[in-house]
Amino acid sequence: MQLNTDTRPSLYTIMRLRHSVHFFLLGMVVGLSLSWLIYLGLASIWFGNHLTGNLGRTDVASVTPWLAPIVWEGTFDATLIDSIYKQQNITIATTVFALGKYTRFLKDFLESAEEHYFIGFRVHYYLFTDQPEAIPNVKLGQERYLTVKKIPSLNRWQDISMGRMDILEKLIENELAKEKVDYIFCLDVDTKFYGRWGVESLGHLVGVIHPWFFDVPRFIFTYEHRPESQAYIPAGVGDYYYTAAAFGGSLKDVHHLTKTCREQLNIDAANSIEAVWHEESHLNKYFLYNKPSKLLSPEYLWRDISMSVGQVKIIRFSHVAKNNAEVRPNL
Ligand SMILES: *[C@@H]1O[C@H](CO)[C@@H](O)[C@H](O)[C@H]1NC(C)=O
Repeated sequence: MQLNTDTRPSLYTIMRLRHSVHFFLLGMVVGLSLSWLIYLGLASIWFGNHLTGNLGRTDVASVTPWLAPIVWEGTFDATLIDSIYKQQNITIATTVFALGKYTRFLKDFLESAEEHYFIGFRVHYYLFTDQPEAIPNVKLGQERYLTVKKIPSLNRWQDISMGRMDILEKLIENELAKEKVDYIFCLDVDTKFYGRWGVESLGHLVGVIHPWFFDVPRFIFTYEHRPESQAYIPAGVGDYYYTAAAFGGSLKDVHHLTKTCREQLNIDAANSIEAVWHEESHLNKYFLYNKPSKLLSPEYLWRDISMSVGQVKIIRFSHVAKNNAEVRPNL
């Protein structure tokens, strides 16, 4: 049988019909999306962005039980927080210790800091070293300053680590208090910046959660558990395990921290006991009884050797993989 082509809609008509349907559907989608955007806009004007907005994380805790923020990517608005601190004309002192072969880490540390660390703010680096001649010449940005301080060489890295508290206490008392320094961060030098570390990190007393211990139960924390040490923390007590590779805060609070830790380290030395993780054990004891007002997630101190972890969306600052046997004066 032959089809009567006259009663059949032409191919052209079908295509036009399909086009119309497509345009109609597309129009509906665009229209609904626009209505939704307008609704969201009105809702945010009505309720305020931050009650209906999308800041915050559901996969990690972003506040401590004493209501201190824990800073993770996605919990702050960088542009907004920069604009708040811009009005305050602040200076951030930053101390690093580079003794012996550790001077080799300075170039990467400083160059990467100039790219990522408190960009747009006044930063004054205080660099302690036994070899001022080994300091690399790194070009610093506007309102970025570097002061080199010569200190004697020490033979044990544990002494270098523990002597830092004493030196920091004196630096704050003798110099920083007179210069108009607002905040201080004390950082390890065998590190490198890979992403923004900015004013979101500022607070009265700031601790950084150790990357190895942020998702493990407390009994694994390597606190000092011998009662003979001033760094003693009883079993079953403790909030977080903090790294000594980065800590900071206001001048006043960090002065109290360094003074207290220095005193406790001296008592331990007089009793011939050295805490299991040296300065870090004392810092953890201090933070247990003087709670930090802000905590930084392990984004602010990662390790090149660590495995990747889903919750860490950005690595801002990291220890560089190093051969301890090669750079330390002793093991
Ligand atoms: C900002 O601070 C610097 C350093 O403390 C100071 O020299 C300068 O006068 C201050 N500027 C203003 C506008 O307060």
